[in-house]
Amino acid sequence: LKLATGKSHAKIILLGEHAVVYNEPAIALPLPDLKMVATITPRNFGQIILAGNYQGSLNEMTEAFEGIRQLINRLLRFFSNPKLAFTLKLESNIPLERGMGSSAATAVAIIRAFFALFETELSDRDLQRWANVEEAITHGSPSGIDAATAAHDVPVWFVKGQKPMPISMSLDATLIIADTGVHGQTGLAVSVVREQLLNEPVETQNHLSELGKLSVQAQEFLAANSIEKLGPIMNSAQQHLSALGVSHPYLDALIDAALEAGALGAKLTGGGVGGTMLALASNEANIDAIVSALEAAGAREIWVQKYYANKE
Ligand code: PMV
Repeated sequence: LKLATGKSHAKIILLGEHAVVYNEPAIALPLPDLKMVATITPRNFGQIILAGNYQGSLNEMTEAFEGIRQLINRLLRFFSNPKLAFTLKLESNIPLERGMGSSAATAVAIIRAFFALFETELSDRDLQRWANVEEAITHGSPSGIDAATAAHDVPVWFVKGQKPMPISMSLDATLIIADTGVHGQTGLAVSVVREQLLNEPVETQNHLSELGKLSVQAQEFLAANSIEKLGPIMNSAQQHLSALGVSHPYLDALIDAALEAGALGAKLTGGGVGGTMLALASNEANIDAIVSALEAAGAREIWVQKYYANKE
């Protein structure tokens, strides 16, 4: 066995978070600049080095890494090599617990590295299934969108329980992502929506289905490269998410700041109730204005992801 690597990247939900739990469609985008690389060196039994986060043996991994530990043990059994001597090293610039799918990206990179090590082909479907082994333990994820989208390098159309569909996107666009610094809590946010659905079923169902319709429209605009039409869709989505009770005053402050600085649209992304927001820049010159406005409004950290027409 030789040294093997597996790569993956972060993702962000453009539209459809929360609604996706209730079978509405969502769109997730890759963040190719935020990467994860897993390297396996066949020596030193079960030695794991997790992106500066954890260093030790496989069997001693703490509860926080239970999903990863079980994933690796299952992979070792799958390759009939439970006593394999190896060192696994993960290197990444993906921020943790910011709704950018860091755990799913970790799982995908590890799975790819093991399949490369054992020179075995891996279909998208199997990759997603393996990633779900880890995600189900780490997140108990209601929709599975992270595992599904981490396996793709292109925007994906995701409906719970269905095969994710790659969406064509060939446009110049820049997304600016900002962290409120308030720890987002996806599980709590999902229960806020569940409660509201019980208390106000008609109104809440209406917000969820409107969010689904926005995903449908956005997919058309992405495919037609009508970037400027995405802004108003993001803004409408934010209104529905806010009505569902999953925004947060810090998210609202960053969203307002981005819009005042000329963003085409801005909304929370992922679970909400803190966490991160994203804004769509209107053009190259607009990027700096949005970044400055977000800094002034108190963003803890900011990421700029550019997409280019007809390029990776
Ligand atoms: O915060 P994230 O990126 O894990 O996204 C959560 C998305 C939700 O729709 C709120 C929950 C889910 O499982 O789909």
